[in-house]
Amino acid sequence: MPGGGVGLIATADTARIEAPVTLKAYLMCAFAAFGGIFFGYDSGYISGVLGMDYFITLYTGKDPNNPAYAKNGSDPSGFALPSWQKSLIVSILSAGTFFGALMAGDLADFIGRRTTIIVGCIVFIIGVILQTASSSYGLLVAGRLIAGFGIGFVSAIIILYMSEIAPKKVRGAIVSGYQFCITIGLLLASCVDYGTQSYTNSGAYRIPMALQMLWAMILAAGLFFLPESPRYFVKRGKIDRAADVLGRLRGQPRDSEFIQTELAEIVANHEYELQVIPQGSYFQSWANCFTGGLSHQKSNLRRTILGTSLQMMQQWTGINFIFYFGTTFFEQLGTISNPFLIGLITTLVNVCSTPISFYTIERFGRRTLLVWGALGMLICEFIVAIAGTVDGSNPATVRAEIAFICIYIFFFASTWGPGAWVVIGEIYPLPIRSRGVALSTASNWLWNCIIAVITPYMVDTDKGNLGAKVFFVWGALCVCCFLYAYILIPETKGLSLEQVDRMMEETTPRNSAKWVPHSTFAAEMGLTDKGTLAPEIVEDVERRGSVV
Ligand code: BGC
Repeated sequence: MPGGGVGLIATADTARIEAPVTLKAYLMCAFAAFGGIFFGYDSGYISGVLGMDYFITLYTGKDPNNPAYAKNGSDPSGFALPSWQKSLIVSILSAGTFFGALMAGDLADFIGRRTTIIVGCIVFIIGVILQTASSSYGLLVAGRLIAGFGIGFVSAIIILYMSEIAPKKVRGAIVSGYQFCITIGLLLASCVDYGTQSYTNSGAYRIPMALQMLWAMILAAGLFFLPESPRYFVKRGKIDRAADVLGRLRGQPRDSEFIQTELAEIVANHEYELQVIPQGSYFQSWANCFTGGLSHQKSNLRRTILGTSLQMMQQWTGINFIFYFGTTFFEQLGTISNPFLIGLITTLVNVCSTPISFYTIERFGRRTLLVWGALGMLICEFIVAIAGTVDGSNPATVRAEIAFICIYIFFFASTWGPGAWVVIGEIYPLPIRSRGVALSTASNWLWNCIIAVITPYMVDTDKGNLGAKVFFVWGALCVCCFLYAYILIPETKGLSLEQVDRMMEETTPRNSAKWVPHSTFAAEMGLTDKGTLAPEIVEDVERRGSVV
């Protein structure tokens, strides 16, 4: 029985540090992936709404039948919202998510991972109600800012929560389920927009907006029945409660040897990290994410840079160029009769390719997927760029370009899409994990926003007018992604989060796939001859956790 200074059963055997898991327990871990729907749906639905006739008339007073607004009509502003308003409506959400993700990292350590996600759902619902009720900019922008906060909470902490509760053998596959839900969210958004775009009443935009509440309600309701993360309770020094939730998560009695041994390892690792990382004030706990210097490969600073830059690189692959600007790009290619249909096809390729990663991320590993995925993407991107530059007006070339764009999406969806989320959930030690994951997620939203803002300047016909040549830019950035993954990404498959911590200390990314765990933290920190973790360790973790 943990707590009260009595040691947990512990082992020096590296193969026995995780309890076996029941099917029900697997399903519980997988449910949290549902949170990805928010992310995808919200990124996807707004571009459709901004182009809806009813919405434009409501917000600008313009009449769609007035010839002045037709293409080449006398009013150059056309039948559209002014650019600054469009960009404000779109980007305010990313601003909200950026700050929401950062705040959520704090909250997750104070009120728990699960509770933070539920709070995120409530904040999101408030934002959605404001958006749905709005018929003026002020309220719409405020609603999107608030909803953005909620998505920031959910998107950062779901990754943290899933990584912490999932069994190590399927952790990659379960977190990839989150990416799968993002892709479904994107698909749902384009279908709903398509369905309501021709409505001549406020249902045109209110239905796609209001529907989002459903995702939040399902997620929050489901989470009420799921347990909190045992690693959160360890961090707060509540070892007894950690044993309870770990038992539920693994489908084993809380006092069984399995649960006691897994918990002992989490506690011993936490104690080890606490000794390495000085604890202190609130500011000190943030500062801890940036300590240790650049030259030390295990340092917190290196890990924070790794997580935030990995998410930046994921955006640099150029994937959102297709999802945000695809329709306009396909229109510019000329010979395409139904750009919307091509947009739908690319979204479907994204959905259908993602599940491949459930298998490959555990079979071949995160590093392998990121290296080969970047190679696949960069080849496709250069082919699209070269074909478009050499022979862009030929319908056969355009068809080939579209085919290669689909293959490019296949590579993204089966590698970098899920891979980036999986890795950020795994590389941080417990004392800085919630903030590290939050910073990495915030970086995803920041770069998402930067790319959305600058891309029109590269491709709009009255600006850079790059056309297919823009794929030279994405291809070159993908070369960076390839080198980055090869040089910096460690292999984390099959290891417990505590073993990842040890692996990052002992080996380099390029040799990491060969690293095998050789001892347990429990054995190193102190095993008694009765086969229990030294009671002082449990007591120390309990004492320090209570003053977090
Ligand atoms: C990215 C998003 C992107 C989506 C596409 C996610 O992993 O972070 O920016 O829109 O994948 O499926």
